[in-house]
Amino acid sequence: MQDSIFIGGGGDDYGEKQGLSLKYANRHGLVAGATGTGKTVTLQIMAEGFSAQGVPVFLSDVKGDLSGLAAAGSPGFKLHDAFMDRAGKIGLDDYSYQAFPVTFWDLFGQQGHPVRTTVAEMGPLLLSRLLELSEAQEGILNIAFRLADEQGLPLLDLKDLQALLVWVGENRADLSLRYGNISVQSVGAIQRRLLVLENQGGAKLFGEPALELSDLMRTDLDGRGRINILAADKLMASPRLYATFLLWLLSELFEELPEVGDPDKPKLVFFFDEAHLLFDDAPKALVDKVEQVARLIRSKGVGVYFITQNPADVPEDILGQLGNRVQHALRAFTARDRKELRLAAETYRDNPRFDTEEAIREVGVGEAVTSFLQKKGVPGVVERTLIRPPSSQLGPIDAALRKALIDSSPVAGKYEVLQDRHSAYEILTKRAQEAAQEAEAAERREVEAEEVEREFKAARRYSGSRVKRSSSRSTRSNARGDTVGDALGKALVKELRGTTGRRIVRGILGGLFKGK
Ligand SMILES: Nc1ncnc2c1ncn2[C@@H]1O[C@H](COP(=O)(O)OP(=O)(O)OP(=O)(O)O)[C@@H](O)[C@H]1O
Ligand SMILES: [Mg+2]
Repeated sequence: MQDSIFIGGGGDDYGEKQGLSLKYANRHGLVAGATGTGKTVTLQIMAEGFSAQGVPVFLSDVKGDLSGLAAAGSPGFKLHDAFMDRAGKIGLDDYSYQAFPVTFWDLFGQQGHPVRTTVAEMGPLLLSRLLELSEAQEGILNIAFRLADEQGLPLLDLKDLQALLVWVGENRADLSLRYGNISVQSVGAIQRRLLVLENQGGAKLFGEPALELSDLMRTDLDGRGRINILAADKLMASPRLYATFLLWLLSELFEELPEVGDPDKPKLVFFFDEAHLLFDDAPKALVDKVEQVARLIRSKGVGVYFITQNPADVPEDILGQLGNRVQHALRAFTARDRKELRLAAETYRDNPRFDTEEAIREVGVGEAVTSFLQKKGVPGVVERTLIRPPSSQLGPIDAALRKALIDSSPVAGKYEVLQDRHSAYEILTKRAQEAAQEAEAAERREVEAEEVEREFKAARRYSGSRVKRSSSRSTRSNARGDTVGDALGKALVKELRGTTGRRIVRGILGGLFKGK
């Protein structure tokens, strides 16, 4: 089975080898099943199999139990005998314990290397989703991104976006003329959402150095694919952040990787655990995007595997694209359960030996109803498969080993230190300061001009002769250059010339410094 990954044994006595063909591994997959039925172990043995074949893997560790991939299983483990039995039953003759090359990642930078992206790379669509914005609020976010583009304001971290939004809010009168209505309420609402995100630790996700995708696609010296494990236990407390981050990563892979058509084996396999979070009350636009990314990322050599309790959690269009399936047991307590079970069963090619629906209900723990793509990408006949036992440790590794592995990883030190590059926040702060100085200068000139005016009137009263008027207006309007590119600054100064000028400067700076 050189060109496939051993998944388990099917047939009457589980003796027929069931494999996932590497050639079709980029045609995506599904691992489903009720809680405790064996999904995580299936994920583990699939990751092992891909790694062994030189295919790098990305997966999220939702319960913290997948870190065991980094350590070999042990004969001292309580399930050793059960594993050996199982291996024997399914004809896994060369079963042995083995550790795999693992890179740990963590959005919060504690249980792995920090993973970051920039606000600009995340883009307004995903950010709106992340922040759960209304349509009107999303519109404003789009305007903000557009302005940042036009003005050359790099949006790297949350601070940059917050500063830009403060600016948009303060200048909404001018901006509304160009872009349509911008309400203070909406801008305020976005800012509040950003605060919530910050409180959830979301600020850590944004900034530099941003993740380089090539670091997810490494192999070790023996040619085994590295298994990238994203610590997701803490992250699950913010399901939106979790789902949006993974979706960002997918779309980034899709955008950055070159076309490779149908390679002999995938360039990367991406496991999306708790996939239902991606689709829970997702707007149609987003589901369409996921569907599109899933469809197109195939030709970049990336296989995407969704892991979820119930296949009904995955929209039909997307489900239809998941060619390789491991369906663990589903419960059928309610009428709705039974209906979903029937629908799930209907998506398989029947096996005359058993009834698919019944099998899905009956399979034991660590057993599944499977179907993998065969020659020409045709789905294989459904099988009742006893899944192989893992070679790596079942259950988490301890903190000391984890730390040692992080410290010695090929990317150690690369992402640990956050860089705060000159970006929108700094630029807008500087502009605001300059504008404040300009406003002060303008005010001084106004006072001077009034003095001249008084002198002029006084002189006329006393001498009757014509005294040349100095025009304070024209001096002021030339006070700042007319470069179009500096429209932000100009609009700001224009505001500042009005009666509310000083208040606005305070507002901008106040808003900006609050974030510090
Ligand atoms: N392929 C397997 N080989 C040997 N034992 C297995 C296998 N699959 C599952 N088991 C046993 O079943 C237990 C539960 O499996 P697992 O943790 O994968 O379930 P799960 O579906 O991920 O559950 P949850 O929904 O709670 O996360 C494992 O700890 C292990 O003891
Ligand atoms: Mg699990």
